Amino acid sequence: MEARQIQIFDTTLRDGEQTPGVSLQTEEKVEIALALAKLKVDVIEAGFPIASPGDFDAVSQIAARVKGPLIAGLARANQKDIETAYQAVKKSDRPRIHTFIATSDIHLEHKLKMSRNEVLERAEQAVRYAKSLVPDVEFSAEDASRSDWDYLCQVYTRAIAAGANVINIPDTVGYSTPVEFAALITYIREHVPNIEQAVVSVHCHDDLGMAVANSLAAIAAGAGQVECTINGLGERAGNASLEELVMALNTRREYYRAGTNIATRQIYRTSRLVSTLTGIVVPPNKAIVGDNAFAHESGIHQHGVLNNSLTYEIMRPEAVGISRNAIVLGKHSGRHAFEERLKHLGYELDADTINNLFVKFKELADRKKMVFDKDIEAMVAEKAAVRPE
Ligand code: KIV
Ligand code: ZN
Repeated sequence: MEARQIQIFDTTLRDGEQTPGVSLQTEEKVEIALALAKLKVDVIEAGFPIASPGDFDAVSQIAARVKGPLIAGLARANQKDIETAYQAVKKSDRPRIHTFIATSDIHLEHKLKMSRNEVLERAEQAVRYAKSLVPDVEFSAEDASRSDWDYLCQVYTRAIAAGANVINIPDTVGYSTPVEFAALITYIREHVPNIEQAVVSVHCHDDLGMAVANSLAAIAAGAGQVECTINGLGERAGNASLEELVMALNTRREYYRAGTNIATRQIYRTSRLVSTLTGIVVPPNKAIVGDNAFAHESGIHQHGVLNNSLTYEIMRPEAVGISRNAIVLGKHSGRHAFEERLKHLGYELDADTINNLFVKFKELADRKKMVFDKDIEAMVAEKAAVRPE
């Protein structure tokens, strides 16, 4: 079977900017959008134009200056939001309006104060109006994963009939689990009669740490677009992380029979840029882009990796733009890694000297968390100083 091409919809500049404490200036957003275009994402959600004059300005600048991806602006399902989103994205060669309304009874009762029928009508009107302005419209049913499945299918059927090119299924509060979310995608694909006319998209939040797993389960169930952010930024616990999703598909291509257009070698530098500009530090143990993602500390692992990286690495660091893996010397490191490091530092020593130095190294490693090159150089220098002529 041919590998499907999954569309990557990046929402770092919209949902990602909803990360508590993050606020980007227009020029910083343009810089990130240019990096996302280099990364070859398919869609950049540039912001929520009605939210503030700054958001409007950033979306318009990105629409005018960033070429390649579709440029989307978010709008609630009302005329004013949609008109404002249109004014912001219209300078793009490839504008998209992304309109949304909640569909769960919890949101209908406590937030929108609308009936199911009213929401159904509003969704249809919003999509129809957006479609009169731009050729590409995405519709999201907010809180889809906590909505009644049959009602959800009615909403999507009407949205597609009104012209939606993409129907997005958000797990807005990160409530779903992979098996359940895949079942929801399958149900929608089987019960929305005009589903073939639209791309099925998913948008997963990470409240239970399952945003990437849920997105992958949705892809296996037939979703064709995933929404995600660099470094997993986003509202509360964040959104599905772009780098994890893309590298999961890349590494397990045969299992998923799906790939992306992403230029994976741009991943690390894009992650660093977003971290620097947002001020949100990437934890060292973060998959793919954390400092430790390609670092090996245990002696057994170091020995394996020095012989053949396939022993303990499922992808090459170069594939995501990191120049090499790191052998971190610490108390779990073995003689093999220690000897390699000595060679790397330019020392050619006899076996006895290496054995003596290795004993000293282990003593030091017990006291220090990490042993650096300068520690090793000091040990060698000390040894040379006491060596009898
Ligand atoms: O989480 C969510 O439901 C959203 C929508 C606006 C797509 O961000
Ligand atoms: Zn969201």
